[in-house]
Amino acid sequence: MKRYVILISGRGSNMESLLDASLPGECVAVISNKPDAAGLASAAARGIPTVAIDHKQFASREDFDAALAAEIDGYAPDLVLLAGFMRILTDGFVRRYEGRLLNIHPSLLPLFPGVKTHAQALAAGVRLHGCTVHFVTPALDGGPIIAQAAVPVLARDNEVTLAARVLIEEHALYPRVAQWYLEGRLRLDGGRAVLDGEAPAAGALHVPAPD
Ligand code: GAR
Repeated sequence: MKRYVILISGRGSNMESLLDASLPGECVAVISNKPDAAGLASAAARGIPTVAIDHKQFASREDFDAALAAEIDGYAPDLVLLAGFMRILTDGFVRRYEGRLLNIHPSLLPLFPGVKTHAQALAAGVRLHGCTVHFVTPALDGGPIIAQAAVPVLARDNEVTLAARVLIEEHALYPRVAQWYLEGRLRLDGGRAVLDGEAPAAGALHVPAPD
C-alpha cells in the first residue's frame, strides 16, 4: 500500500477530507509548520502520527526546509500532499519531491495565485471561481494542473460565502486526485499531468449547477 504524508498550517479541513475518504493508501504522518494548527488535533484523534516543526525556530527558509525534508523522508512516503500548507518552499525542497508533491489552491489557476484568492476573484469580477489541484514545481502556484472544480460567483457573494462554496469543492476534488495518484494512475511527465496515459479530461473538471 502506498504511503502519504500531509502538510498543513492551520484548520486542516482539506486534511480531514483526505483522511476520511478511505483512500487506497496509508497516511503515515501529518506535519505542521505551526505548533498550534487545529488540524494536528483532529489528525491525532484519527490515530495519525503528528509532528510540528515550527518554522520560526529556523534561521532561514533553507534550514526549515531541510528539517522538514528530513522528517518527511523518515516516513518514506510515496506522496506528499500540501493541504493548506502556507509556506513558500525552496526550489531544492520542491525538486526533491518532484512528481510526488501535490497542492490544492483556492482559485482556478493560473488566475489568482498567492493569498486572498477569494478577494482577488471578487475584485476582478469573474463569474466563475473555484479550486485547482496541481503538481508542485518551483513556480509559486504554477505547477502542472491536474484537476479543477468551478463554482459560480453570485451577486450576493462576499469573501466568506465564496470561500465556503469553493471549500466544498476542495473537499471533493483533492481526495479524488489523491486516489488517482495512489492507484498509480496519475503522474508528472514532461511538465504535464498525465492520467491513465492521457491529459486529464472530463473527470478532472467539476462544475456544479448554480443554486
Ligand atoms: C484551503 O482553502 C486551501 O485551498 C488553501 O488554504 C485553505 C486551508 O484550509 N490553500 C492555499 O491557499 C495554498 N496556497 P484547510 O486548512 O481547512 O484545509
